[in-house]
Amino acid sequence: MADSRERVGELRAEAEAAIAAAPDAAALEELRVRYLGRRAELTQILRGIGELPAEQRGPVGAAANAAREALEELLARRRAALEGGELERRLAEDAVDVTLPGIPPVAVGHLHLLKQTRREIEDIFVGLGYRVMEGPEVEYDYYNFTALNHPPSHPARLTQDSFYVDPETLPDGILNEDGLPPGPKDVLFRTHTSPMQVRAMEAAAPPIFIVVPGTAYRRDTLDATHSPMFHQVEGLAVADGISLADLAGTLEEFARAMFGPERKTRLKPDFFPFTEPSVQVDVSCFACGGDGTLPDGSRDPLCKGTGWIEILGAGMVDPNVFGFVAERGYDPGRTQGFAFGMGIERIGMLKHGIPDLRIFFENDVRFLEQFA
Ligand code: DAH
Repeated sequence: MADSRERVGELRAEAEAAIAAAPDAAALEELRVRYLGRRAELTQILRGIGELPAEQRGPVGAAANAAREALEELLARRRAALEGGELERRLAEDAVDVTLPGIPPVAVGHLHLLKQTRREIEDIFVGLGYRVMEGPEVEYDYYNFTALNHPPSHPARLTQDSFYVDPETLPDGILNEDGLPPGPKDVLFRTHTSPMQVRAMEAAAPPIFIVVPGTAYRRDTLDATHSPMFHQVEGLAVADGISLADLAGTLEEFARAMFGPERKTRLKPDFFPFTEPSVQVDVSCFACGGDGTLPDGSRDPLCKGTGWIEILGAGMVDPNVFGFVAERGYDPGRTQGFAFGMGIERIGMLKHGIPDLRIFFENDVRFLEQFA
């Protein structure tokens, strides 16, 4: 029965073509059932071999079995190829672009108002030719007090006013300015950014124009206007012939850039150990315009009716301070310069009408988001 062998050949060719063209796993399964399933023609032929004339059984059986094996192998290979392809296609379709914003897009953060204010101050002075410097927050008594002309008995040196560092907790090898192991009052959290005046002058001969933003610490209890940790920006300008008029002009420029072009400034006598003369700088009130009364005739609470707001301390560098850096080219008998120091919290509070300093550190998003 040559017909059976021929039929096996036809079925095999047909199935091979169909398997090669199968588009997906489901189509492949259908083909498996159609050509190799229980009711498939090839299966029937195999089953009926016993009924064939004896001389045909061998050749038909061999051809049918060979076809079955070949088709099984072809199906397996085609299945593997389709699965690989499907995986790739699904990966391509499901690809996630991790660089896209989330859904809904997640807002990017923004700088804290204190940092914004610090940068604003820095930018104004950079525009005037100053460089920005930073310095250590854990400082020697020498830089924080002695070289800034504080007498040994100055009240800021009291342990109830400043945070001293237990020398036991300092790394080995740290020595005080006399080259001795530090004692209980030799190292402290700096109480202002002013120590960088001396460090900067030690590092470079005049002229020098720097601003120093940073954190300072005092043993204050937290209230609406005080915090044991706060921020300042120090300024130092030393160059031939610098005078108090330069100080006044520079700080007026600053006040206008910070608080508006209409602002005026005034200097009042003050005292700081490291400046002589020392001044307090006031800016004309930007709430009332400087006359102390609001449009409805009431007293302006911001300037308390005075028309002026204190913004910082300043002065001409005391010759005694230059005396500590004389070998770097600061001749106490000749060199002139001015210095100033302002609180960043205070500037931010004034500019934005913030009534309580504590709110800077509470991280209440209702506050923070107002300054995005
Ligand atoms: N260091 C002073 C303070 O913390 C502020 C200050 C006043 C800085 C006068 C200065 C200055 O550079 O000249 O209260």
